[in-house]
Amino acid sequence: MIIKTAEFLMSNSDVSKCPKDVLPEYAFIGRSNVGKSSLINMLTNHKNLAKTSGRPGKTQLINHFLINKNWFLVDLPGYGYARVSKTSKRQFQKFITNYFEQRQQLVLAFVLVDIRHEAQKIDLEFMQYMGENRIPFSIIFTKADKLKPKAIERHVEAYMQELLKTWEETPSYFITSSSSFIGRDEVLAKIDATNDEMNALRKS
Ligand code: GTP
Ligand code: MG
Repeated sequence: MIIKTAEFLMSNSDVSKCPKDVLPEYAFIGRSNVGKSSLINMLTNHKNLAKTSGRPGKTQLINHFLINKNWFLVDLPGYGYARVSKTSKRQFQKFITNYFEQRQQLVLAFVLVDIRHEAQKIDLEFMQYMGENRIPFSIIFTKADKLKPKAIERHVEAYMQELLKTWEETPSYFITSSSSFIGRDEVLAKIDATNDEMNALRKS
């Protein structure tokens, strides 16, 4: 898919104030600093469309970016920074869960995890939450430039094995690097295919 236009539309802390447009949208979620905003810049081929930082907690609001005047990418705050899930009790920021539970236009979420780390409890809990709420998601492994190909394979395999302890099937996943542009075509192809599915559904 070719990205012809990518525009920042608005930032919100309240899902009810998000754009009213009925366009398919794709949200990026994951721990703070995992690379959500960087990935949006990589996908859209813009250096500073979404604001990034080396310090966790940069993105604080729900940010809508209109792509090709036809669908939205949504940058969200990380969930492991302001309020860490200290116990098994789930404590994702309320407006993030409001977004996921209320936003009708959301067609697919991408849950980002840093490819260098073992599966973390907070990410597994978040995926569990998505499953319970029947919100479709794919996993995006980020920062693949930090590992050699063999290690990438090993880490992904270990992650899938961990998921299979609680999931019958593993979600689709993508291996990416925003600094090396790895995985860009694959993620955009997934969005393209999902947009086509949504159009077909609308027509039927
Ligand atoms: P919050 O907004 O705080 O939740 O963080 P975020 O998930 O949006 O992360 P952000 O995109 O701001 O990136 C965090 C840090 O990771 C920055 O220093 C980025 O340069 C770095 N980073 C992001 N993606 C990559 C990547 O693919 N490779 C490498 N090496 N660094 C990355
Ligand atoms: Mg961010």
